[in-house]
Amino acid sequence: MGFNIALLCMPLLLQLVQSLIIKNSQPSCNLYEGTWVYDESYPLYDASRCPHLRREFDCQKYGRPDKDYLKYRWQPTSCNVPMFDGKEFLRIWAGKKIMFVGDSLSLNQWQSLLCMLHASVPDATIKSSGDTIDFSSMTYQDYNVTVMYYRTPYLVDIINEKIGRILNLDSLQAGKQWLQANLLIFNTWHWWLRSGKYQPWDFIQDGNTTLRDMDRTLAFSKALATWGRWVESSVNPNTTKVFYQGVSPSHYHGTDWGESYTKSCAGEMEPFMGTEYPAGPVPQEEVVKSALENISKPVHLLNITFLSQLRKDAHPSSYSGIKLRMDCSHWCIAGVPDVWNSLMYAALLS
Ligand SMILES: *[C@@H]1O[C@H](CO)[C@@H](O)[C@H](O)[C@H]1NC(C)=O
Ligand SMILES: *[C@@H]1O[C@H](CO)[C@@H](O)[C@H](O)[C@H]1NC(C)=O
Ligand SMILES: *[C@@H]1O[C@H](CO)[C@@H](O)[C@H](O)[C@H]1NC(C)=O
Ligand SMILES: *[C@@H]1O[C@H](CO)[C@@H](O)[C@H](O)[C@H]1NC(C)=O
Ligand SMILES: *[C@@H]1O[C@H](CO)[C@@H](O)[C@H](O)[C@H]1NC(C)=O
Repeated sequence: MGFNIALLCMPLLLQLVQSLIIKNSQPSCNLYEGTWVYDESYPLYDASRCPHLRREFDCQKYGRPDKDYLKYRWQPTSCNVPMFDGKEFLRIWAGKKIMFVGDSLSLNQWQSLLCMLHASVPDATIKSSGDTIDFSSMTYQDYNVTVMYYRTPYLVDIINEKIGRILNLDSLQAGKQWLQANLLIFNTWHWWLRSGKYQPWDFIQDGNTTLRDMDRTLAFSKALATWGRWVESSVNPNTTKVFYQGVSPSHYHGTDWGESYTKSCAGEMEPFMGTEYPAGPVPQEEVVKSALENISKPVHLLNITFLSQLRKDAHPSSYSGIKLRMDCSHWCIAGVPDVWNSLMYAALLS
């Protein structure tokens, strides 16, 4: 009898020992510390086959002549990033909803995830809805997984009042709609610097004070604090995981990577290969850090800033399907956002 029980327990014991070994061999790996390595097996998919891809990210289609930028894999210093497995991802999230919330950098990551999933399940039955500038949703019906994009460049609300459009740093009405999701990935920063005709508000409201303008980094930090209070009061960690997509860097000035100020990402065909980025961290990363430290519920910082800083070669530049100006802030797809999603996948598995 005793012998039989011991036999029955063997697989369990083995599993326990194995999991201890795996834990010990990977002492709290920092996924975001590492280097880019050239990898012939990249990109993860052929973007020309991705039916979801918007023209602003479709660099190859809009004439980008070089392809090396597609061939870099992120290699963390002390562990490996598991290969993204779209089927496994859909199985894990079956019956659940995923929502990217924020500005067009969220759109960028959402688009990448759709293309990565398409590469894994090209024949999936997808029901799409929304598809407006503000909201898009794709449901993978065989798995009952919905992947959504909710556009809100500041996270906090812009409210139309008699005196004009008010950016209210304390108001987060849209939050109600985010709560349907079981995985939320937030981001905001790029719009905080906009002014003149690119600024979609007339006043800022901070508490009971209405202002023409204020320090933008301070405004950003107040909005993130509002968002943090919302996470604290509204998100149920039993049913919903929260990620924050860190500041996505732009490459408009070569001085950031040790070249001349007038140089932009145009014509850049290789990553910056140093181990430290000459410009140093983006100052607003500190704001994100303290906002997240203030939240007691689990929020994972998808710390894409440093690894993306190294990728001056990976922006659409003039090969975007919407020719507004040189685009050195979004990212080509396939490309860097695929790595963001792979790192999110890794963080979700661990
Ligand atoms: C993000 O990761 C980089 C590289 O490891 C690190 O220098 C930086 O402090 C991290 N940012 C935050 C906000 O934690
Ligand atoms: C699909 O998932 C949603 C939650 O996202 C759930 O409400 C619904 O019942 C599910 N449908 C099926 C057919 O399982
Ligand atoms: C804003 O005004 C209301 C009503 O006058 C007052 O009750 C509240 O304390 C004020 N809030 C702040 C932050 O000053
Ligand atoms: C941290 O939380 C407190 C209490 O809600 C708030 O007053 C403060 O502004 C927050 N700080 C940051 C950096 O978010
Ligand atoms: C989350 O789950 C734990 C353990 O089951 C439970 O004690 C707690 O009340 C739950 N929290 C919420 C907000 O539902």
